[in-house]
Amino acid sequence: MKTLVIGGNGFIGTNLVEALLRDGHDVRIFDRYPSRYKDPFPGVEYVVGDLGNYGEVHEALSGIDWVFHLAYTTLPQTSNDDPVYDVRSNLGDTVHLLQECRDSHIGKVIFISSGGTVYGIPNRIPIPEDHPQQPICSYGITKLAIEKYLSLFHRLWGLEYAVARISNPYGEQQNPHSKQGAIGVFLGNIAERKPITIWGDGEVVRDYIYIGDAVEALLKAARYQPGADDPRIFNIGAGRGHSLNQIVEELKQVVDLPVEVKYTPGRPIDVPASVLDISRAKSVLGWAPQVELAEGLERSWRWVKSLILA
Ligand SMILES: NC(=O)c1ccc[n+]([C@@H]2O[C@H](COP(=O)([O-])OP(=O)(O)OC[C@H]3O[C@@H](n4cnc5c(N)ncnc54)[C@H](O)[C@@H]3O)[C@@H](O)[C@H]2O)c1
Repeated sequence: MKTLVIGGNGFIGTNLVEALLRDGHDVRIFDRYPSRYKDPFPGVEYVVGDLGNYGEVHEALSGIDWVFHLAYTTLPQTSNDDPVYDVRSNLGDTVHLLQECRDSHIGKVIFISSGGTVYGIPNRIPIPEDHPQQPICSYGITKLAIEKYLSLFHRLWGLEYAVARISNPYGEQQNPHSKQGAIGVFLGNIAERKPITIWGDGEVVRDYIYIGDAVEALLKAARYQPGADDPRIFNIGAGRGHSLNQIVEELKQVVDLPVEVKYTPGRPIDVPASVLDISRAKSVLGWAPQVELAEGLERSWRWVKSLILA
């Protein structure tokens, strides 16, 4: 398939492009910045552009079968600072993208939503896809609204789509200096011999999924051909929870450097626990995570060391 990956130079995108190439697809990346850590992949077409530039988006869609939409201008913790910006640059520009996809007869749009924010504070764990959705940050609201527009475009104009509500991915290419991604940031701090900072008491529970498993789910979601009433929204996580304190203990088994932890006050955007029920993706997509946490942390540490200590 001729595949466009919007936001393909980021953490998830780089891993996804690698998997698409392994799978034999033709790839075009549309991103406003080059990859931080990865040299260009041979054979991939790179287009520098912004989702907000409608002429560039129109051109990037030419000849494309599948569109993976990964570009996002906000994070859960930054989105509440300027919700109007979040709505304009993510919701507005994505609805425009969907119009272009409809008009260009794109075969399928695969959208990366957020398993950690669309549900808000869960009333049960693990969280199934039909759990009530009450996001407590603007990012979760715009992700959810985009899901609704995908459903609308499918209903009105037959645009095919899949939504991956990814939990907390970690692994190779994750920016250790980012404002999100606890495992990547913790490993970066350890490699740079800085203390790890934990907001709150460290008992916040998250569902950490190894990036290789997450991108395999995205490929399966793209290949899946649903009937009219089949589900198109999938939780993608490990289906198991770990607290930050447990992650720190696991990391101590993996790294060969001292681990120092500092605790600071908790943040209002952090839900106390988020663990996804992944039974739908297992049964419908035939997907299941393969990489255990200890193995995933080993791989992540090797990558962070190659980046920071090499
Ligand atoms: N990393 C996570 O923990 C996580 C969890 C769930 C969902 N997601 C979602 O997955 C997607 C990818 O996340 P990531 O961690 O790879 O992020 P990332 O920041 O590493 O990559 C995003 C890429 O999109 C590009 N981009 C952003 N806005 C753009 C725009 N307007 N036009 C063109 N390019 C633009 C950036 O330059 C970057 O290369 C995002 O939609 C994110 O919300 C991420």
